[in-house]
Amino acid sequence: MAERLTRIAIVSEDKCKPKKCRQECKKSCPVVKTGKLCIEVTSASKLAFISEELCIGCGICVKKCPFDAIEIINLPKDLEKDTTHRYGPNTFKLHRLPVPRPGQVLGLVGTNGIGKSTALKVLAGKLKPNLGRFKNPPDWQEILTYFRGSELQNYFTRILEDNLKAIIKPQYVDHIPKAVQGNVGQVLEQKDERDMKAELCVDLELNQVIDRNVGDLSGGELQRFAIAVVAVQNAEIYMFDEPSSYLDVKQRLKAAQVIRSLLRPNSYVIVVEHDLSVLDYLSDFICCLYGKPGAYGVVTLPFSVREGINIFLAGFVPTENLRFRDESLTFKRLKKVLRRLRHISGISTLL
Ligand SMILES: Nc1ncnc2c1ncn2[C@@H]1O[C@H](COP(=O)(O)OP(=O)(O)O)[C@@H](O)[C@H]1O
Ligand code: SF4
Ligand code: SF4
Ligand SMILES: [Mg+2]
Repeated sequence: MAERLTRIAIVSEDKCKPKKCRQECKKSCPVVKTGKLCIEVTSASKLAFISEELCIGCGICVKKCPFDAIEIINLPKDLEKDTTHRYGPNTFKLHRLPVPRPGQVLGLVGTNGIGKSTALKVLAGKLKPNLGRFKNPPDWQEILTYFRGSELQNYFTRILEDNLKAIIKPQYVDHIPKAVQGNVGQVLEQKDERDMKAELCVDLELNQVIDRNVGDLSGGELQRFAIAVVAVQNAEIYMFDEPSSYLDVKQRLKAAQVIRSLLRPNSYVIVVEHDLSVLDYLSDFICCLYGKPGAYGVVTLPFSVREGINIFLAGFVPTENLRFRDESLTFKRLKKVLRRLRHISGISTLL
């Protein structure tokens, strides 16, 4: 029983093409051969379905699929009871959640595809967590009961009962022009609940594009505009998903200052950030996300900024005694540098 709960099967929606293959996965599965519906697929299916309950983890289907569409993954420990959300059958699964603290900036760090944006959407109340039960999703009452005893119960209760407003600066700023009409100045004017437009346009270097159509902004301009749109509004929860993409070092620092300036004793600020020096500057505490990109992600307990960054770099969570990467990032980088040096100078004793 415990054994089966530690395994997940992922079928890639992009790669699985039952019309173009011969359903090699199903034909080769030893469990299917015993007559059980471990893999269900026909040439008319949209996708193959793999039963995680029946799968014995032999890995044969992974090798037989001509399109590399299947992943069978053993989870590092029993995370089943900690499932926060699963998008659907054989898809990505998020375990646990970061716990925001009022009056502090929470930084989130982790590799791509590990669930950071998913966690933000859940914490913003925009994605209702299904606790893994995508077929019969729980209602909010049940979700609150699930989080009982944790700070998250208070947090979600406040969102639901006090109607806390959450605004997210989206990760993909290049999608903004599709959703926003008008020029920079007009849009900011409309949203300027905090009467901060003029000041933010200076800080975020937006005056030079103030009359420009949002559709004609460059990546960096869009990023600064998107940060300004969030920062001129009143909200109890501010979230910034990768605010430093497209920005230069000086602009990143300015953006970080703007983000920190939004803190109030009873409000929340949450930031997903890849640039570790920006993360260091911005955050009061950090949660790391580890797992397997596209398959599952696990949120760690909160750490101090220095500890959190070290854990991300080291690939090791001491509180869980868990290694999530084989080598530390700094070491990897060092090896790369040494390899290059050796290449340039012909020194072979360095490694
Ligand atoms: N609506 C969705 N349906 C199915 N899978 C999704 C959906 N949204 C995101 N995912 C998948 O969830 C995983 C985590 O995504 P995301 O939270 O955006 O990661 P990150 O922000 O850390 O890069 C990815 O594999 C992504 O493809
Ligand atoms: S998983 Fe691979 S073999 Fe199975 S149906 Fe999809 S594409 Fe075909
Ligand atoms: S890994 Fe699971 S689904 Fe794939 S062939 Fe083996 S038992 Fe069947
Ligand atoms: Mg993301």
